[in-house]
Amino acid sequence: MSVTVRVPAKVNVQLAVGGARPDGFHDLANVFLAVGLYDEVTATPADELRITCTGPGADQVPLDRTNLAARAALALAARHGLDAAVHLHIAKDIPVAGGMAGGSADAAGTLVACDALWGLNTPQGELLDICAELGSDVPFSLVGGAALGTGRGEQLRPLDVGGTFHWVFAVADGGLSTPAVYREFDRITEGTEVPEPLASQELLDALAKGDATALATALSNDLQPAALSLFPSLADTLAAGRAAGALAGLVSGSGPTTAFLVRDAESAAEVAESLLASGTCRAARTATSPAQGATVVRGR
Ligand code: C5P
Repeated sequence: MSVTVRVPAKVNVQLAVGGARPDGFHDLANVFLAVGLYDEVTATPADELRITCTGPGADQVPLDRTNLAARAALALAARHGLDAAVHLHIAKDIPVAGGMAGGSADAAGTLVACDALWGLNTPQGELLDICAELGSDVPFSLVGGAALGTGRGEQLRPLDVGGTFHWVFAVADGGLSTPAVYREFDRITEGTEVPEPLASQELLDALAKGDATALATALSNDLQPAALSLFPSLADTLAAGRAAGALAGLVSGSGPTTAFLVRDAESAAEVAESLLASGTCRAARTATSPAQGATVVRGR
């Protein structure tokens, strides 16, 4: 008997970053939008905790206890006095180390899968507490949809989304380390007064109305200069996507995936084709948002 859970990727339609806090994290106004690119986590009883992984970039995913999915299973088991005797299989489709919360998705998926497999019925509030301990983006992967994340991104307020948004994601050749991008942000902003991060009302209104043109104008990512500084060729990808007819383009989270908001499915296919032909990315994926959070798709 196994349980399989499907978990979406995310794009940050606004990522406002404050100055470094004493604990090294940064206060954020982080507007998360779940997008329909999914990893699947399957939990099966086993003699001991074991992880396997397949899909694009699977060779870069650690299979030991440093994997966020392993830590999620151990944290849930510890809370209930159980042994985490489970085989976790991760079928990856979210770009690895891409700034789309793939690792966070696997952790959230593992919590939901193990909770169902072990028949725990853990209240969602408790699952969200475990998520927040695992990483700043993990709570959002659990709930999906759209949300404003404050604090280090883990305190969530659900947001209304009034329509479907169409995206193209350009997958870069290589990854970026999130801590390294935040360090670069600190270096770039050193000696300047970093303003308090605030959500843009214009952006929240555009989301609520489902207005892609208005959302395109309001997209912003304070980590983009840092990501471009560490990965300069992303500027070429952004230029190629805009030239291909995207309404707007930006670095997704800490990168190096770039996200292009487009008018409709037809435009998405065209922009994806042009991006690939431009030779400025390794792959181009189309997806829509919002998408549902971690959901059991097979098993109990
Ligand atoms: O919370 P998470 O483990 O995903 O964060 C990864 C790294 O990103 C942190 O160690 C920190 O360097 C950086 N970070 C940050 N401020 C945040 C979220 C993450 O500085 N709000």
